[in-house]
Amino acid sequence: MVMISVSRLYLATLLALAAANPLGRRTMSVHESRQVVPAGFAHAGTPSPSQEITLRIALTNTDIKGLEAKTYAVSDPANPLYGQHLTPNEVADYVKPTAETLSAVTEWLKENNLVAKSISPAGDLLQISLPISKANDLLSAQFTTFKHVASGKESIRTLSYSVPESLKEEIQFFHPTVAFVPPLNGKPGLTAINSKRELKERATVPASCASVANPACLIAEYNIPTTLANNSATNNLVVAGYIEQYANQADLQRFLTALRPELGNATFALQTLDGGINDQTLSNAGVEANLDVDMTVGLAAGVPVTFLSVGEDNNDDVDGFVDIVNFLLAEPDGVRPTVLTTSYGFNEADLPASLAINICNAYMQLGAVGTSVFFASGDGGVGGIQSTSCTAFVPTAPSGCPFVTSVGGTAGVPQSAAGLSGGGFSNYFPTPDFQAGDVASYLSSIGTQYSGLYNATGRGFPDIAATAENVEIAWDGSFWTVDGTSCATPISASIFALVNDRLIAAGKPVLGFLNPFLYSPAGRAAFNDITSGSNPGCNTEGFSATAGWDPVTGLGTPDFNKLLTAVGL
Ligand SMILES: *[C@@H]1O[C@H](CO)[C@@H](O)[C@H](O)[C@H]1NC(C)=O
Ligand SMILES: *[C@@H]1O[C@H](CO)[C@@H](O)[C@H](O)[C@H]1NC(C)=O
Ligand SMILES: *[C@@H]1O[C@H](CO)[C@@H](O)[C@H](O)[C@H]1NC(C)=O
Repeated sequence: MVMISVSRLYLATLLALAAANPLGRRTMSVHESRQVVPAGFAHAGTPSPSQEITLRIALTNTDIKGLEAKTYAVSDPANPLYGQHLTPNEVADYVKPTAETLSAVTEWLKENNLVAKSISPAGDLLQISLPISKANDLLSAQFTTFKHVASGKESIRTLSYSVPESLKEEIQFFHPTVAFVPPLNGKPGLTAINSKRELKERATVPASCASVANPACLIAEYNIPTTLANNSATNNLVVAGYIEQYANQADLQRFLTALRPELGNATFALQTLDGGINDQTLSNAGVEANLDVDMTVGLAAGVPVTFLSVGEDNNDDVDGFVDIVNFLLAEPDGVRPTVLTTSYGFNEADLPASLAINICNAYMQLGAVGTSVFFASGDGGVGGIQSTSCTAFVPTAPSGCPFVTSVGGTAGVPQSAAGLSGGGFSNYFPTPDFQAGDVASYLSSIGTQYSGLYNATGRGFPDIAATAENVEIAWDGSFWTVDGTSCATPISASIFALVNDRLIAAGKPVLGFLNPFLYSPAGRAAFNDITSGSNPGCNTEGFSATAGWDPVTGLGTPDFNKLLTAVGL
């Protein structure tokens, strides 16, 4: 021990005397870097060298391509393996680092008196805590305090870091390091709260579902069954909650009493992660969280719904998006959700490609074990999560990940595309095979329109759509209508959770990773094609909804009865 500290002192002296590659120090190689501080962030000082930071190391997986092939095989209705979801252990065999990778990285950390702990079920994600001075030394980095100007939120990042050249292939990335991800928006996906309504007015079904889309409207629009789902033991719809958005029980009860009285005191269970809570003070109810539980408990009648509140104690760069997947993957069969719905997202460019790909691989793992993963496509049309000024179209994340089902928005009676519906093409993920024909047809239909504004070789989104304007919710003791693909996502998730209930009743596997099924001949026949409207943004009219798939409403809106036919029930 003493010897080590003496030699480290000696090394420090040597470093000071002759900067280049002293004996005993490994040859370092820049692993990730950026030239400038991204727009929206500013330097905010130098942290104390003794301050502890927690860093994560994503190790190279044993065979991620193998898992991808297997996941597609079990999710493609045309494949004999369809429905044979993997076990978490089978997934872990693909995802875990090789023994060589793990020992090479562990050895290097040991040379630096560091011991990492594994924080993912497969062991591909390690975590270390160390003083900033030591992190700077370990990674040839310069950790500095930065501030996200709009929110004032501070974070410690570096513009560049290195790893030993001999470990370049073993390490995907260290984080948080070069990623500058803006915090999730306080009212994600909601563009407006349009009106406040008295409870007594809501006791009957309104004449026009175009101006108030209540549960009766949605049930009629999508043929959602009103008989209770019965297979609560193995079916579980999980709503992801972030950024201290709390789902209020009293508001939910108010919603059900007025709009689905036959559901009585139906409610949701609570799980928490990363210090998340679910404060029940009425004035602290979150619009997004209430919307999510109203649409799931209120539409997926009889399916157990869990609100999973992810707190601020996450170290994953992305508000807990990585943590939640590892948390769910570690859950036992029967507890792990069959459907996960998330109405939060980012603009794709705000995540470095390395992180976006890593998160996407996490969703692939969930899909492989039988969880259908839904995300809102964004509320800024072709302009991204929210409408902003832009010169090129802004794809959103994680909608660009082929392993999530991205949900766009519709409005009106009959339904047409909602102008807010996020849609377009990823710059990080290429067009997957399941939609290659659809994307090619759509792009040939628009010719050179918008050429250069979007990535013609990227994964197109959304995959499907549902009502995203004037959706009625209860919030803060009253009734409101809200807009956003945040509405469409839990509505869609509920419909698929009810399909899973029928599959379980018939002794069949649940749907799992959905997209290859959705785009199959049987799957696409279960959608009502939306052929009017567009998603303006970036000073353009945006893409137009057309016959067939389009980057506004995807394949169209789901029909429960047609979905039963599509799954062979
Ligand atoms: C669930 O069970 C009840 C009572 O047996 C029955 O009335 C109802 O139709 C069932 N629901 C479904 C979806 O099968
Ligand atoms: C809901 O009502 C039923 C029947 O009255 C009761 O058994 C159950 O405990 C209630 N659940 C909650 C969460 O209040
Ligand atoms: C377009 O998408 C492809 C496929 O994902 C990607 O390789 C390429 O870098 C993207 N182009 C731009 C300009 O981002």
